[in-house]
Amino acid sequence: MDFKKPWFFYVILVYSEVMILVQAKCMSPPPSSNFTLGGYYGLWFEAGKIQTPGGAFFEKDCVCTTIEVEPKSNKTTGDCTALNSCRKLKPQGKYINATGQLEDMNPPGKWKESFFFFLPKVDYTVIYLDKDFAVEYDCGETLGITNYCIHVMARVPDPDLTKVQSLVNFAEQLGLNTDKLPYNQTHQAGCWGKR
Ligand SMILES: *[C@@H]1O[C@H](CO)[C@@H](O)[C@H](O)[C@H]1NC(C)=O
Ligand SMILES: *[C@@H]1O[C@H](CO)[C@@H](O)[C@H](O)[C@H]1NC(C)=O
Ligand SMILES: *[C@@H]1O[C@H](CO)[C@@H](O)[C@H](O)[C@H]1NC(C)=O
Ligand SMILES: *[C@@H]1O[C@H](CO)[C@@H](O)[C@H](O)[C@H]1NC(C)=O
Repeated sequence: MDFKKPWFFYVILVYSEVMILVQAKCMSPPPSSNFTLGGYYGLWFEAGKIQTPGGAFFEKDCVCTTIEVEPKSNKTTGDCTALNSCRKLKPQGKYINATGQLEDMNPPGKWKESFFFFLPKVDYTVIYLDKDFAVEYDCGETLGITNYCIHVMARVPDPDLTKVQSLVNFAEQLGLNTDKLPYNQTHQAGCWGKR
């Protein structure tokens, strides 16, 4: 028997054990039974989020965050764009915008989202929808690392915080917050004075 394995045997062994320890896989929650494309289109104000550090890197310094969902020209397929827009650090800060492509909708309310051609696509699911609120869960796995984000969004920048908290609880009860990360309210005060 040969006990002297090549060095990369040990590298792979340690790597796979670390991956088994850290891996919190993406969840597959069902889309909201209320979901309609028409009900999701338009402007949403981010009330808050639960997000892994490697999540949406462009959201790190964001205040005044909005998401605007629009159908692509070919409306029949369910393909949409989701413009993520925010201000850097303060309400007068510069815009940070990034447009996500929502494609391959199946079932209604669940898409693949991509930002840049070289980044892997993530699963994007609208898990709650009514006329005033939406909750969206997106998750992707890269090189054994799981990144996810749970966005609570409202049609107004100053939503009812009791309702927001109940939606955070709803997402927690679905087991989506696998890393037990804190909920972080999005700064929206002073952003929309002239609206
Ligand atoms: C719209 O989508 C349908 C179904 O995927 C496709 O056959 C058609 O070519 C598309 N039209 C345009 C203008 O992209
Ligand atoms: C970013 O998006 C906002 C809409 O939220 C728009 O008003 C602004 O012009 C955009 N800025 C840039 C630099 O794309
Ligand atoms: C559907 O919307 C109603 C309110 O309009 C809400 O009470 C219910 O929880 C929603 N269901 C889902 C699955 O989002
Ligand atoms: C919450 O967000 C702010 C900036 O938006 C950030 O500085 C802070 O570290 C975040 N807190 C947590 C617990 O993620």
